[in-house]
Amino acid sequence: MRERLIDIVAVPDHSGIARWQAVVPPGFVAGVADLRPVIPFEHGLFEVALDIQPGAVELNLYVEPQWRRRGIGSLLLAAVGEHAVQQRLVAEVAAGSAGEAFCVRHGFRHTGSRCHDLLSYGDVHQAWLAELVDVGHAGYRLSHWTGDLSDATQVEELLRHPSRPGSAVLSAAEADGDLVAYAVAAVDAMSQRRARQYGPSVLAAHRGRRLGLWVNAALIKRLREVHPHIDEIEARTAEDDLGLLALRRHLGFHHLRRTRVYELALP
Ligand SMILES: CC(C)(COP(=O)(O)OP(=O)(O)OC[C@H]1O[C@@H](n2cnc3c(N)ncnc32)[C@H](O)[C@@H]1OP(=O)(O)O)[C@@H](O)C(=O)NCCC(=O)NCCS
Repeated sequence: MRERLIDIVAVPDHSGIARWQAVVPPGFVAGVADLRPVIPFEHGLFEVALDIQPGAVELNLYVEPQWRRRGIGSLLLAAVGEHAVQQRLVAEVAAGSAGEAFCVRHGFRHTGSRCHDLLSYGDVHQAWLAELVDVGHAGYRLSHWTGDLSDATQVEELLRHPSRPGSAVLSAAEADGDLVAYAVAAVDAMSQRRARQYGPSVLAAHRGRRLGLWVNAALIKRLREVHPHIDEIEARTAEDDLGLLALRRHLGFHHLRRTRVYELALP
């Protein structure tokens, strides 16, 4: 049986990402798995995310098409489960895909669905964007920060660091020196032309004042100033967050794809 020749190898980690490879003779990598920290900024500074609980880590699993349905994905998942220090694995898969069937087969629980949206800078009317940013919001002050998201796990912590060159840009609204709204984006490690946006998130007591639109418009503008090579921004939203989806449409984001979120509690 070919399966007996499959070796699951832990790959030395240089970037804070735990990684495994499934190697088949004579040394071909037939599949990979990695675990990435869940980016906390995505799920709102001010409230607990509905679809991801604390202590979760994001699982990415990929098996080369010609090597599928031979147990390689299951072997990789077993290796991950044996070594993961976190209690929960979270996987995001396309509805009706092999990934979804795999998750169901391995006892993952469906916890939510997400809409992925894309904004192309070519579609943004710059003067309109500048007007949105310039609108006065009495009692609120807009500020920006640049750096790397790995510098902190909370937005307030990021803001305490001085700005420096980095992949991330944060736009925030403050009232009386307190952070009340923010949106953050980071250049995608895989594609230097795309950024991933998290938020906007607005403190409950300050909602209904278009602060989300304000910080998001400011972020879109600022991101391009700091990273002029960025062409587009991808953002994902829980599919039942109709307010956030409407805000994204207003800013010119269009629907890209829908994914489903699955979670596995490790023993
Ligand atoms: C999902 C993926 C990693 C599965 O890898 P794999 O090596 O084929 O998985 P396994 O052979 O270990 O499959 C284990 C079980 O999952 C289920 N499964 C996997 N692929 C399936 C498919 N295409 N259709 C239906 N069930 C499937 C089956 O129950 C299978 O057991 P069986 O073959 O005895 O019926 C692979 O299809 C892939 O790389 N897909 C694209 C990336 C992706 O979706 N990743 C997210 C996964 S968290």
